[in-house]
Amino acid sequence: PKDNNHNTSGNNKLPEQESAGGGTTILTTRQGHPIYDNQNTRTVGNRGPATLENYQLLEKMSHFDRERVPERVVHARGAGAHGIFEAYGTVGDDPISKYTRAKVFEKGKVTPLFVRFSTVIHGGHSPETLRDPRGFAVKMYTEDGNWDLVGNNLKIFFIRDALKFPDFIHAFKPDPVTNRQDPNRQFDFISHTPEAMHMITFLFSPWGIPASYRHMQGSGVNTYKWVNSEGEAVLVKYHWEPLQGIKNLTQKQAEEIQAKNFNHATQDLYEAIEQGEFPEWELNVQIMSDDDHPELDFDPLDDTKLWPNDQFPWYPIGKMTLNRNPVNYFAEVEQSAFGTGVLVDGLDFSDDKMLQGRTFSYSDTQRYRVGTNYLQLPINSPRKHVATNQRDGQMAYYQDIAPGTNPHVNYEPSSLGGLKEATRPGKDYTPSYQAKLVREKISRQNDFKQAGETYRNFEDWERDELISNLVGALSASEKHIQDKMVEMFTQCDEDYGRRVAEGLKMAAESKEKRMDVSKTEREGQAVQQAEQES
Ligand code: HEM
Repeated sequence: PKDNNHNTSGNNKLPEQESAGGGTTILTTRQGHPIYDNQNTRTVGNRGPATLENYQLLEKMSHFDRERVPERVVHARGAGAHGIFEAYGTVGDDPISKYTRAKVFEKGKVTPLFVRFSTVIHGGHSPETLRDPRGFAVKMYTEDGNWDLVGNNLKIFFIRDALKFPDFIHAFKPDPVTNRQDPNRQFDFISHTPEAMHMITFLFSPWGIPASYRHMQGSGVNTYKWVNSEGEAVLVKYHWEPLQGIKNLTQKQAEEIQAKNFNHATQDLYEAIEQGEFPEWELNVQIMSDDDHPELDFDPLDDTKLWPNDQFPWYPIGKMTLNRNPVNYFAEVEQSAFGTGVLVDGLDFSDDKMLQGRTFSYSDTQRYRVGTNYLQLPINSPRKHVATNQRDGQMAYYQDIAPGTNPHVNYEPSSLGGLKEATRPGKDYTPSYQAKLVREKISRQNDFKQAGETYRNFEDWERDELISNLVGALSASEKHIQDKMVEMFTQCDEDYGRRVAEGLKMAAESKEKRMDVSKTEREGQAVQQAEQES
């Protein structure tokens, strides 16, 4: 590009490429050569062999051979949409600047964004009706650079230490031998992971299968910080509330949809936007002062816990509207790359150790999955001035050289006209630490209490579904795993444990009965056969 800046027109092309093909519909190679015959390979004579100089064939085939990039290791199946975020500028009765200096939240500010919704465990074309958390990743192209809020539909998570994430995912992904998801492996892991009980309680209830992406909540799950211009911080959690309402599915409803359509959520989102029914979510925050809150029976940095609404009210701070479908699924949805490290001034990390681990993982996997220069792709690149001294690498598409700077200087500091550091817009936030370096669990684990509360807060039909879904899945587990799980459900709530235990007993009895019937049938058949033979 002429100004060394990347394209911001949003049509994924460099300015020079606008007229590629001379504005005609003529098919060309990627080198711009018109194609005169796209049906017949060049051969020696009508029936003869193809030749090696057949550039058109080799080029077409070798590009095709490379059409796939690795899919996301988790959240492979997804759908995306473009939209905007409009900020309200307040937190309750206070101006938002009391808590954060992030410009994206200033009253009336409108910021373009891209969202990707997803399921977690299975591959790129797996059914969208599966019991699974749903991903809810938002990328805002703010005036201060990108802000990604990489969340899920549920407000808590299975584990609270990033070190456990690969094991957790392995246990939930298909078995390495049979290539099938196996409840015996899932519950084997969970039976050793009591902090997952709260999430399991949500996951096996109807909240584990949202009816569509439009009808689900979203949550940042991990605890973040906000920093104001005085350099003071608060702890914050983010939640998206769908203005279309929340709808979840029973297992039976999900199975009925899956029998006919395993892309229903992608279809629903795309068609709603095409028809001008733009889905909307309000962004809410919960706020706590920045300390360890010894008065609470949970740790504010523990992502397996809800912050009770009565103590920490939800404050709406803005609204998101999705109003434009992607025109190219691969370029926009597949290559989009979100990460928890992508924060703007006024937003900060908390010491939540899951968040810290996640922050390494996202950009690391994206350098592998998409490539070193994934941030130069239009979907990922900020809609503003980008100027770094980072250079080269595979697929470098342009240089981030600011107009007026000396292109020979790709280092800093320098007095030869290179890039300069920015002035900090407010006081720096400088938390202090004095502690031993340890490997320890947090002290307020309290793994079962909130799970029990969630169980009791469900409506009757949600509890019935939860029990039936758990019994269905756990029936396929070994007895000692079932027993351990029942013990943990009982610690959450006695009724919860009793109902799962009863359900498992009934399931075992009816399985025995079925086996007896088929044994009698088999014996009957054997006698008949023996009689016929004699
Ligand atoms: C995707 C790692 C926990 C939400 C991913 C990806 C990785 C990853 C490697 C694939 C990214 C890509 O290929 O672009 C981790 C690790 C975690 C963790 C290491 C824990 C230590 C969570 C939690 C949430 C979450 C707690 C919810 C708040 C998501 C979402 C995506 C994703 C929504 C899909 C983003 C997209 O649509 O591209 N995660 N994750 N993850 N993760 Fe996590």
